[in-house]
Amino acid sequence: MFTFQVFSKLEGAFTAGMIHLGDRLGLYRALAAADSPMTSVQLAGEVGLEERWVREWLANQAAARLIEHDASEAADRFSLSGEGRAVLASPEHPAFGMGMFHRLPATMGALELMPEAFASGMGHDYDSHGPEGAEGIERSFEPWNKANLIRKVLPAMSGVVDRLTEGATVVDVGCGAGGAVLLMAESFPNSTFVGYDISQHALERAQIKLAESGLANARFADPRHDPLPANGSVDIVTTFDCIHDMAHPQPVIEAIRAAVADDGHWLLVDIRAADTLAGNIEANPMAALLYGVSVLSCMSSALSEPGGAGLGTLGLPASKAEEMARAAGFTRFETLDVQHAMNAFYEIRP
Ligand SMILES: C[S@@+](CC[C@H](N)C(=O)[O-])C[C@H]1O[C@@H](n2cnc3c(N)ncnc32)[C@H](O)[C@@H]1O
Repeated sequence: MFTFQVFSKLEGAFTAGMIHLGDRLGLYRALAAADSPMTSVQLAGEVGLEERWVREWLANQAAARLIEHDASEAADRFSLSGEGRAVLASPEHPAFGMGMFHRLPATMGALELMPEAFASGMGHDYDSHGPEGAEGIERSFEPWNKANLIRKVLPAMSGVVDRLTEGATVVDVGCGAGGAVLLMAESFPNSTFVGYDISQHALERAQIKLAESGLANARFADPRHDPLPANGSVDIVTTFDCIHDMAHPQPVIEAIRAAVADDGHWLLVDIRAADTLAGNIEANPMAALLYGVSVLSCMSSALSEPGGAGLGTLGLPASKAEEMARAAGFTRFETLDVQHAMNAFYEIRP
């Protein structure tokens, strides 16, 4: 049974690779678009790929119970369930899950860097995952944000929607490819937005998307060259899934406090975590996944500069977030009533 447990992880790793291919090669999208279950010949014809390869991929997916398999006719037929369509083939659905699989090869590529990192203690920043890493992050967070950021998260904060509607100055720190900034900038044309990130790949994506959007009330910057204002001129700061990735999160939180007005707001979104390893293992069915992501990505980023704090994926439970916020001069800390599979939402105020 122990061997089975170990090899089920390897099955997961190989099937995750197949999911990456299904997304990348358009196989899921073709299955989702079909009116009826498809044979491997039909699917291969639809996507213009070699049938023998498509057939073996379908076999993996059927064995993993990810796609439906009908063996009642002469030729096997395959289809996606409603849930399969949402998670595997619908970027507009909040449950769409292909972002982490998009960046799987880039993330797993970091394995080669690990012996050195474990020996030296030094990690690698997000740009070490290349442009596909930034795009994978973008695709991970945008679907849920599109459905919920404007409609549910911002209204859960005290008076923030009114301020944004009237016209507020907003900063998103660790903005990645700018998805949240562009969503908010489009919804609140009287407000101005600046997204800050240190990843050049993410900033390049953000600039392209900004140009495509035609929005004039947003811009993106690298805070190492163009720092946050330190004069309390910002009304609202947001940080989405990035404080735990930062090599020096406490100085960043202090910079956020210096930037935000005394009547301002900080929306902190970060991975929901317990205070202890035992608590995470018990309460979070994704704990093993998240600790693995931490080694290859989040904690590595948080140790990518000398003296890095190394918080990592599950390293910012509410207690730690509150302690760090108070140490930076914030006095009010409230957990927002927003449901998310992985994240917790806090409104923090001076
Ligand atoms: C998991 S990604 C989240 C990106 C984005 N907020 C989103 O939700 O798509 C974490 C981001 O934090 C950025 N980051 C890490 N350290 C940073 C720092 N000191 N200042 C600004 N951004 C930083 C990384 O480059 C990366 O883009």
